Amino acid sequence: MTREQAQEKIDQLSQKLHYYNEQYYMHDNSVVSDYEFDQQLAELIKLEEEWPDFKKPDSPTQRVGGTITKEFETVTHRYPMLSLGNTYSQEDLRDFDKRVEKGLGTEDYEYFCELKFDGVAISLSYEDGYLIRAVTRGDGSKGDDITANAKTIRTIPLRLREGDYPGIFEVRGEVFMPVAVFNELNTQRVNNGEVPLANPRNTASGTLKMQDSSIVASRKLDCFLYSLMGDELQQESHAACIESLIAWGFNVSDTYKKCSTIEEVIAYIDEWEEKRKSLPLDTDGIVIKVNSLNQQEELGFTAKSPRWAIAYKYKAESTSTRLNSITYQVGRTGAITPVANLEPVTLAGTVVKRASLHNANEIERLGLHIGDHVFVEKGGEIIPKVTGVDEAHRAENVAPVQYITHCPECSTELIRQEGEAVHYCPNQSSCPPQIKGRIAHYISRNAMDIDSMGEQTIALLYDNGLVRDMADLYTLKADDILALEGFKELSTQNLLQGIEASKAIPFQRLLFALGIRYVGRTVAEKLAEHFGSMEKLAQASMEELIAVPEIGERIAASLKEYFEQPENQRLVERLKEAGLQMEADQSAFENASELLEGKSFVVSGVFAQFSRDEIKAAVKQNGGKLLSSVSGNTDYLIAGDKMGPAKLEKAEKLGVTILSEEEFINMIQ
Ligand code: IVH
Repeated sequence: MTREQAQEKIDQLSQKLHYYNEQYYMHDNSVVSDYEFDQQLAELIKLEEEWPDFKKPDSPTQRVGGTITKEFETVTHRYPMLSLGNTYSQEDLRDFDKRVEKGLGTEDYEYFCELKFDGVAISLSYEDGYLIRAVTRGDGSKGDDITANAKTIRTIPLRLREGDYPGIFEVRGEVFMPVAVFNELNTQRVNNGEVPLANPRNTASGTLKMQDSSIVASRKLDCFLYSLMGDELQQESHAACIESLIAWGFNVSDTYKKCSTIEEVIAYIDEWEEKRKSLPLDTDGIVIKVNSLNQQEELGFTAKSPRWAIAYKYKAESTSTRLNSITYQVGRTGAITPVANLEPVTLAGTVVKRASLHNANEIERLGLHIGDHVFVEKGGEIIPKVTGVDEAHRAENVAPVQYITHCPECSTELIRQEGEAVHYCPNQSSCPPQIKGRIAHYISRNAMDIDSMGEQTIALLYDNGLVRDMADLYTLKADDILALEGFKELSTQNLLQGIEASKAIPFQRLLFALGIRYVGRTVAEKLAEHFGSMEKLAQASMEELIAVPEIGERIAASLKEYFEQPENQRLVERLKEAGLQMEADQSAFENASELLEGKSFVVSGVFAQFSRDEIKAAVKQNGGKLLSSVSGNTDYLIAGDKMGPAKLEKAEKLGVTILSEEEFINMIQ
């Protein structure tokens, strides 16, 4: 393929994929099959790898992530990100209306109502139609640059279609995790023996701050935009801004309404009180904004929030009931989750019998006693939570709940590590739910993918004494399985074939399947790529582990601890004897060059073709070393736009070679 042909093909594929994405995510229209889409995306990824200088900052491949951010850069907001005053009653709302009326004198005014989306505020900067930066709210005046992560959110446009948008502007909105996505993620976590996540909002927030953007991509976040900001806006009202956002291709929820009076606002609030529950995301109220931008300016701000807008919060549905008991569940890692068993009560249309309590701190914070009447709330969370105790109804002679000190399943004394809220049962080798949970994780789809087996089979094998760890799976005989309840010739064959097939699963998946604490899929891949074999990994020192990009002290310590335990050493040995993959197929990892071996780089500024993270990744992939500031040890400074003059001056003074983006790309080609 010639350069011209490659460029043409990259353009063609990019255009098509942009179109499919837009149709799918913005218009609910599936133009091609998932298979076809994936094929074309894979072709584009490959071409961009071969011809990196044709990769555009708005390439559809950005959506799959892959950028690693060690530390998010702090960015000062051009316009501060303020919060809103809250009201909980119609009375408060009418007071707000009176204040607006007074503030505007004799002028007429209108309101614009929107739902209050329960997510994470984000600010997106566009220049010449390209998304150049995405920043979290932070403390309102400074936030974190999470551009690489935001680019994976498919409804955030990377480049706008032709339109009458200003050269520079910002849009603000709310990143959220759809409730269905959150529930699916939590089901997976529970199946893996992990502690369930508290709610979609916190999960969205945590996801946006993940270092590996490919995990962010897999989390299926979404975003609704609700404000436009800029120095040269033509729009005269918030309604006109919203229309523009829609016209330019932004994802705006169609739940808004213009209202002429506060009575209409109240009708809107009533209308959405129930209807909002059928939306794909959590909402906790509505936001009322004065529509005219001139009037907004006239009304101005208090120290913290605008005088032209207010949030009305719906009451979280709550009830009270008796706390009958607390049970403690043990996950595969030994993590203990306390669960409140309640006198059944109807809340928001469903009967609630159990509520999560998270950990010992939460029980202490609530000051729980068995027999207490507790308030239970269904807010954003699907699992209801205990929010407080009705102390007036406390029975006499009851003692506060004492958190368990020993495992409810195996009676081993629990441990709680410094700084951690969760208690653990340390008896990994013989605590039954831990063993079963580890095997369930081992066979799961992203691990060894033994789909002929499920949790029930694991329980059967365990209860009949046939399996105590994953290595035992490989010594199972047909006769043993046939003797189990429900197993016939065919199902036995299937099960054994599934187990046999897992021997071909690549090393990095086996490493993930072992269920070492903090070693998720991405970490396992990094380790496999770096060390190449189980043997080398098991022998690695703390220093060698920490030297691997992405591996911090917590992961390194967990790995050391795992491989130091004789029973784990024996397990790994038996898996090896069973014929599992103990070495990485290095060709499966990106083959990087050694072109920059021994050279140190500082990367600074804003680049045209690649993000700063991509440039940094390219340095590392080609053997170069990254430094955070210019010093006598720096060989090259890769300088983008808007770089601080002091840095440039220092580099010049120290005789550091300064490279443009172009020059750097040529250097590694
Ligand atoms: S407008 C000056 N509109 O609520 C603040 N905010 O309490 C302008 N939020 O930080 C914000 N839905 O994260 C606005 N339709 C909406 C919203 C919304 C959710 C969040 C946002 C903001 C917080 C303010």
